[in-house]
Amino acid sequence: MSPAATRRSRMQQWFPGTAHPLIVSAPMAGITNPRLASEVVRANGLGFIQGGRTFKPGSSSLAQLEEQLTLARSLLPRERNTDESDESQHPLPIGVGFVLFSDCAAPHFGNTTAPILARHRPAAVWFFAPDPDRPETLRTVIESLRSTAATVNWNPRVVVQVGTMDAAREAAELGADVIVAQGIEAGGHQFVRAAGIVSLVPEVKDMVRNEFPDKEIAVWAAGGIADGRGVAAALALGAEAAVMGTRYMVAPESDAEDYKRKALLAASDGATSTVKSYVHDHVQGNFTWPTRYDARALVHRSYHDAQAGMTIEENESRYRAAKEKGDVSMMVTWSGSSVGLVKSAPPAAEITRKVREEAVEVIGALKAVL
Ligand SMILES: Cc1cc2nc3c(=O)[nH]c(=O)nc-3n(C[C@H](O)[C@H](O)[C@H](O)COP(=O)(O)O)c2cc1C
Repeated sequence: MSPAATRRSRMQQWFPGTAHPLIVSAPMAGITNPRLASEVVRANGLGFIQGGRTFKPGSSSLAQLEEQLTLARSLLPRERNTDESDESQHPLPIGVGFVLFSDCAAPHFGNTTAPILARHRPAAVWFFAPDPDRPETLRTVIESLRSTAATVNWNPRVVVQVGTMDAAREAAELGADVIVAQGIEAGGHQFVRAAGIVSLVPEVKDMVRNEFPDKEIAVWAAGGIADGRGVAAALALGAEAAVMGTRYMVAPESDAEDYKRKALLAASDGATSTVKSYVHDHVQGNFTWPTRYDARALVHRSYHDAQAGMTIEENESRYRAAKEKGDVSMMVTWSGSSVGLVKSAPPAAEITRKVREEAVEVIGALKAVL
């Protein structure tokens, strides 16, 4: 274990067994799974899995969540798990993410999902993307999680990912332990109106310090971080952890299809090879995301066609036809603007260790010249 791994900061107290600086693998629908998350944990990071978007009783995503959590426990290293016989009584050192825009999140999270989580006791529960037209959702979900957790003496850290100051302030008011400041560099879904992490992270930090001095709230940075330089920069901005998504997509443990891995590894210059747009969802026939959110993906043919004026109906039908034929040239690959830094695909544990070690080196080199 590196010297950094033995140092303790607030994150190491909150997440025992993790090393400083804390590296977090983002919850990513269709990509993350218990293997990936537990490998990140094995390397002293914090790995997230992603729950489904349907919270109604009897939904298949609830059964999947139960399976994923059971599998995660069986994969975790003993020292981070427990050596006592009733393992279910001990927290699971991974996190679980949920996307909240669905109309069934507020009415059902507390009676369907929170009890499953309470049985497995993950270390952190991450929320993202409530629908601004259902302003009660985030509050209801956090309150029901906390009240269910209290019945089993479990204290999950509540993590809320945001892209604006208003959303960050709301998360703080509602009792988030961690605010993930997600910049426009991020891969996948994000706030349409947003900023890069260089300004967003310190502004969120200042807000937390000035407006919530009595609350213990950590800020994490997400978006565009793919190596130790990015982690060092995130720490300099005031973040207590660096979240990476795109970097882990190519790890052998991820569920990403081969064509996505190849496309990510081949891409360079995230400025021109990725783009933030609604088109990525719309060509796939997905109109469910509230308009507050768009997404960043590799530029693809459907995007060019949309830019050239093709109607979304025509574009969607071509996309569907291409998918049926197995033509991947039109498929959407979510990607952050850091894609040009993603040049190799080592296992998730190696990514975690290497990025952490690089960050320590970068910080050491900066100190040396001061
Ligand atoms: C393929 C992919 C899927 C994602 N899915 C989710 C998700 O289901 N829930 C969520 O909260 N964030 C999701 N995100 C966003 C991440 O939480 C995170 O903000 C982002 O990956 C950080 O930027 P990076 O990709 O540049 O590292 C996703 C990102 C990617 C790349």
